[in-house]
Amino acid sequence: MNALVTGATGFIGSHLVRRLVREGAQVSVLMRSSADPWRLRDIMPRLNCLQGDLSSLTSLAGEIKRAKPEVIYHLGWQGASSHQFQNDPAQVFANLPGSLELVQLAAECGCRAWIGMGSVLEYGNYPVPVTEEQAPRPVTLYGAAKFAVGLLAQKLCAGYGIRSAWFRLFWAYGPGDDTARMIPYLIGALLKGERPALTPGEQKWDYLFIDDVVEALWRAAAHPGVQGVYNLGSGAANPLREVVERIRDFIDPSLPLGFGELPYRPDQIMHLQADISRLRKAMNWEPAVEIQNGLRRTVEWFRLNRNRYV
Ligand SMILES: NC(=O)c1ccc[n+]([C@@H]2O[C@H](COP(=O)([O-])OP(=O)(O)OC[C@H]3O[C@@H](n4cnc5c(N)ncnc54)[C@H](OP(=O)(O)O)[C@@H]3O)[C@@H](O)[C@H]2O)c1
Repeated sequence: MNALVTGATGFIGSHLVRRLVREGAQVSVLMRSSADPWRLRDIMPRLNCLQGDLSSLTSLAGEIKRAKPEVIYHLGWQGASSHQFQNDPAQVFANLPGSLELVQLAAECGCRAWIGMGSVLEYGNYPVPVTEEQAPRPVTLYGAAKFAVGLLAQKLCAGYGIRSAWFRLFWAYGPGDDTARMIPYLIGALLKGERPALTPGEQKWDYLFIDDVVEALWRAAAHPGVQGVYNLGSGAANPLREVVERIRDFIDPSLPLGFGELPYRPDQIMHLQADISRLRKAMNWEPAVEIQNGLRRTVEWFRLNRNRYV
């Protein structure tokens, strides 16, 4: 397979690129000149690096066409990892035009599949396991921009005769995650012996280990019947308090936790859980890594790489 990956230097993209390389794929990656490719350092010689930005894809059109990707994975997204930017207008202006231009380029390259990464935050606040049929009610610009890109990209792909899949990813976690996210922040603080400040922790979220995320992305390219919107989660909702306590117990059960020291956000989502029936059926996919095991592996990785993180 010949694939192009945007967001390759990020948490999820780097795991996907490693998997593609392992499977023998030819992989081109879109990389900003400012990017630090530390997650890909050892496999860089095996990648075709296209230096550019989502906002300057036109100047890369020739290189992308020469790379002839059969599959495009679109994971690149400005402001993906921090809550700080969730209502920044850049969510729209930095991400929408480039994402849609990428679909047009896919058509010009004769690409057969366009696979994009959406988000649970397209849904907004739903108290039950959410199915893909439920109407998105995003409460942030991030969620609205993801929804808009997913919808428009699928319509464009249909017009161009390209198969498209849009994954509404719930929360991914695992080795190499960005420290702006809750789990890496928590691990980092606890490894330093600090008492992390936390909300009361009554939220229930659906966490999926990175290997399971990558497995679904890999299968989406291989299964010609995979098309449309898919929830990508574990299907289980874990009380945040339990997740936090498990992580603390892996590091040092005697460490104190500052539950209730932070208020909930005004737009706090309290319970999100994926209904994953559609994904299971489409590609015979199942979450394989149980949360206890996934958290243990994540803590272990951060412990071994503490020089970078802590
Ligand atoms: N992690 C999750 O739990 C989660 C949940 C739902 C959805 N998602 C989605 O999954 C995708 C990957 O997320 P992640 O966790 O891997 O995020 P991440 O670690 O922050 O990675 C984001 C990637 O996008 C690239 N990027 C940002 N702005 C860009 C631009 N203007 N042009 C080109 N590339 C740009 C970054 O490149 P640099 O290295 O140059 O910064 C990086 O490679 C995103 O679309 C995100 O919205 C993630």
